[in-house]
Amino acid sequence: EKTEEESTLINLLEIDGVMLPVISKEIWARVCNFQARPDDLILATYPKSGTTWTQEILDMIHNDGDVAKCQRATSTERHPFIELTFTHKEKLDLDWANEMPSPRMLKTHLPSHLMPPNIWKQNCKVIYVARNPKDCMVSSYYFHKMTSMLPDPKSWEDFFEKFMAGKVVCGSWYDHVKGWWAAKDKYQILYLFYEDMKRNPKREIHKMLEFLGKTLSEDVIDKIIYHTSFDVMKENPMANQTGVPTHIFDHSISHFMRKGMPGDWKNHFTVAMNETFDKHYKKKMEGTTLTFCTEI
Ligand code: A3P
Repeated sequence: EKTEEESTLINLLEIDGVMLPVISKEIWARVCNFQARPDDLILATYPKSGTTWTQEILDMIHNDGDVAKCQRATSTERHPFIELTFTHKEKLDLDWANEMPSPRMLKTHLPSHLMPPNIWKQNCKVIYVARNPKDCMVSSYYFHKMTSMLPDPKSWEDFFEKFMAGKVVCGSWYDHVKGWWAAKDKYQILYLFYEDMKRNPKREIHKMLEFLGKTLSEDVIDKIIYHTSFDVMKENPMANQTGVPTHIFDHSISHFMRKGMPGDWKNHFTVAMNETFDKHYKKKMEGTTLTFCTEI
């Protein structure tokens, strides 16, 4: 059983109806006042949608495929979170971000309507990665079990209900993906999908390059694809999150780099659960042009 003392992040609090870690709420005024720079690149995701993977790809792009440069520090130590801080760090990610030289790459799990307004004012580029909700839910369930930063998921059945109701960290998956989908028509946002990245990483990396106004040789792109593949990243201590202290991420319960494949939901959803989910999904996604694929 997880106890509150284990982490200041374990309790979730609501901001505008969205459940966020206590730490985000504590620093909320500062998050809202975040001063962006026009050349900031923001990576935005709903949790468990491929943040760490995309982060590695973007860092490789930024460093022209130089693996050694991307191994300068762990994932959590390379790019600050806007609204979060891992408990093992001495200072807030926000303070770290303020001291960082440009160009910066920052991460966030915030829904679009809670983004610090200055990011839009500075017209920063944002890359949003979405993942199908069934796999996202399964991934999140295992993550809740292995991290002391989030409440115990109780049973899989309980978590299934909570996820559909949006009573989980960062709020409703539906609101998150739809909110960002709408935002992309107003701001500089590249909206990508985990399943597309898995199916055709080269095409998706080309989209990123075009969005960033950068070119790389096909050789370098191939190197990036290799270095950021699940099997290679899983063995890379600077990318597989094993650097996070065990009391925060307990990889003996579940690896952070768990399966890395679309379709694992089929091993967890019963036929009845799947029917319930599909019905609920249809209602929640009515009227949007946004579509997902749940297997490749
Ligand atoms: P699974 O639990 O389904 O395996 P995030 O970084 O947003 O927390 O997302 C974590 C999910 O992305 C996990 O999903 C993890 O295994 C997967 N992942 C991490 N690196 C990956 C990679 N290189 N390729 C595919 N999936 C990856």
